[in-house]
Amino acid sequence: MISFARSLVALGAVLAATPALAQVPGLLPVPAELHAGKGALAVSGKTALVVPDGDAGARNAAERLAALIAESRGLKLGVGSRASGPSIRFVRAATGKPESYRLDVTPRGAVITSGDDAGLLYGAVTLWQAMTQVPGKGAVEVPAFGAVDAPRFGWRGLMLDSARHFQSPAYVRKLIDWMAVNKLNTLHWHLVDDQGWRVEIRKYPKLTEISGWRHPATAPGAPQLPRVGGYYSQGEIRGIVAYAAQRNVTIVPEIEMPGHALAAIRAYPELGTGVPIPPGTESDWGVFPWLYNVDDKTFEFLEDVLDEVITLFPSKYIHVGGDEAVKDQWKGSAEIQARMKTLGIKDETALQAWFMHRIGEHLTKRGRKLIGWDEILEGGQVPPDATITSWRGIEGAITAAKAGHDAVLSPSPTLYFDHRQGAGDSEPPGRLDVMDLKTIYGFDPVPPEIPTAQQHHVLGLQANLWTEHVRTEERAAWMTFPRASAVAEIGWSGKGASDFNGFVDRVIPQMARMHGLGLNAAISAFQVKTDVDYAPGRDDVTVSLANQAGLTMRYTIDGSAISAKSPVYAGPFKAKLPFELKAESVHDGRGVTGAIAQKVTQQSVRWRSDEALKTCTNRVVLALEDDYPASGKRAVFVSDIFNPCWLWEKAPVGGARQVAITVGQIPFNFQVGKDRDGIKFQTPATPEGEFVVYADKCEGPRLAVLPLAPATGNPGLTRLVAPLAPRAGTGTLCITYTAKGVDPLWAIDAVELIS
Ligand code: ACM
Repeated sequence: MISFARSLVALGAVLAATPALAQVPGLLPVPAELHAGKGALAVSGKTALVVPDGDAGARNAAERLAALIAESRGLKLGVGSRASGPSIRFVRAATGKPESYRLDVTPRGAVITSGDDAGLLYGAVTLWQAMTQVPGKGAVEVPAFGAVDAPRFGWRGLMLDSARHFQSPAYVRKLIDWMAVNKLNTLHWHLVDDQGWRVEIRKYPKLTEISGWRHPATAPGAPQLPRVGGYYSQGEIRGIVAYAAQRNVTIVPEIEMPGHALAAIRAYPELGTGVPIPPGTESDWGVFPWLYNVDDKTFEFLEDVLDEVITLFPSKYIHVGGDEAVKDQWKGSAEIQARMKTLGIKDETALQAWFMHRIGEHLTKRGRKLIGWDEILEGGQVPPDATITSWRGIEGAITAAKAGHDAVLSPSPTLYFDHRQGAGDSEPPGRLDVMDLKTIYGFDPVPPEIPTAQQHHVLGLQANLWTEHVRTEERAAWMTFPRASAVAEIGWSGKGASDFNGFVDRVIPQMARMHGLGLNAAISAFQVKTDVDYAPGRDDVTVSLANQAGLTMRYTIDGSAISAKSPVYAGPFKAKLPFELKAESVHDGRGVTGAIAQKVTQQSVRWRSDEALKTCTNRVVLALEDDYPASGKRAVFVSDIFNPCWLWEKAPVGGARQVAITVGQIPFNFQVGKDRDGIKFQTPATPEGEFVVYADKCEGPRLAVLPLAPATGNPGLTRLVAPLAPRAGTGTLCITYTAKGVDPLWAIDAVELIS
């Protein structure tokens, strides 16, 4: 289940509207050097932004600052080359490393100095952060301070998957805005994959005509969902690339090969190995078997595509994928085997290496550099100056650096933002395990396994937002921030990025600032989570509260609103049923996310959402969205798709005479190869199958059987009710179902014990 009612709106009110701050403001990423000054600079609509005559980079930085401050505070600052009163001056002078800057704020004015355009822009971003430390509109006083700042890494990135789900150009621009104010500078744009081709290629129009749209998968018998998709015209891409450049964001496009190629093969079947494509496959997730063939004509196609991509993206790097190319179709193709023999290539892994090498040569001819996922290290023929995106953990980066190749660290699962960042009904669909804010912040991009002499090969880090389970832009934003701010700080601040509590102090105002730029960031790290422990026969419960960020929490249990006088949570407490629990996290004396409120009753303690159940196993656990209804709210189900089976630990079974399970059905739309045959179910006793409840472990006594017949024709949720064999006290319930096959997957929305 899901609700998006709350957002960080409340963060806007975190700090009282004091006219000036007494200390250096909480800047993110934290600058390398900061020193407090005396007094404050008053900034109003009269404050001028002064740039050297004819300096386009300085003018761009000043205009960005003017636009940001207009959006955040409604202040309109003019840009010119002279000023009489206090002003904000942009000065071009060497400051050291690329993107470095100096910022000096005194009561007489502010000066931003840098030797490059990026540094001037980042000085402006830091000043904007200082101006928006206190939320509000109009004139503002910025405390005097100085910053001397430079990034730790040159690659501070995010990857956006626009292939699985398409995001509008307006969203991509917003994302670039949000990146820029965190000093993130690289957007790796995943533009093609099995499920969609998103970049207009003039020479091959069928790529977007055929593979720009698809119907999402639905369970057997469920109504078809409207088609989804879209693509970026070359004009739109040019506009986005220019927009990004103004914000010091380089877009690195990715064109996948030789796997993840279904979208291209659907459009031009002659590019494949001849294996037919079953209808509907394009809405599956997982690792597909379809590969490009290795004919010269296919290379001609790929080189043509890359040539058009190169005209759109000025980036030095062009990403060519290379991941997850299962070789079955190459093994099974007589033509490909014959070609391998002619070329003297010993196996299919070496064939992929030859493939990537050939593409690398083409990019070199065009003056660009190849970057690929870490599989391109295999097969003994890595293109000589190839750069590696290390995703299967950090090993790819270690191997690459030792072999003299540059690497970007984006290890799964830590920097995979398709993983959920918390548990509970307010989280959108995604993968599990949870990758929370603290886990991201704790990531070290330079593992000790890389010898000191090779550490310069680490270009930096990036987080990847894969979007199989991220259907909407609202969810894409939620999955990205605030975790991307942690990546930004690790990538920029070096040793400064070691104190999680300090980061929390900075990220809370940062999310409030960014709310003013249209971002509704995830509140997962700050929101209070409750655990209510109940034993049958009692009239009280034990309540535990927690939040990921380690913030102080206040609560009430008498229905009253939380105030500064409410008790501070000091550990688990007892409360008598029924009561209303309100709780919130507190930062700088203010509530952070708005209070949670829940009624705790004799009935609620006997009810569990699927979010609060455990899965029996932890093979591939996903929070999957229902395929129904087409519009409006849909359920989200947590399930191990390789073993749909759930545990309710410490279930208060004593006195319960019935069990109710609310269930839904979703398509099994996963390309998992032969693993599909390994997913086993018990044999159904009725034609439609049934949910079964066992005591203790899943081999324990059978307590209830709930036939699925009433749910079978219903694409939405169905509440099944059945008698429960009597048990005493509390115990673990194991819930699973019988079935003839994997499609549909049945899933639990909630379970209730009824006395
Ligand atoms: C990847 O996650 N397949 C790069």
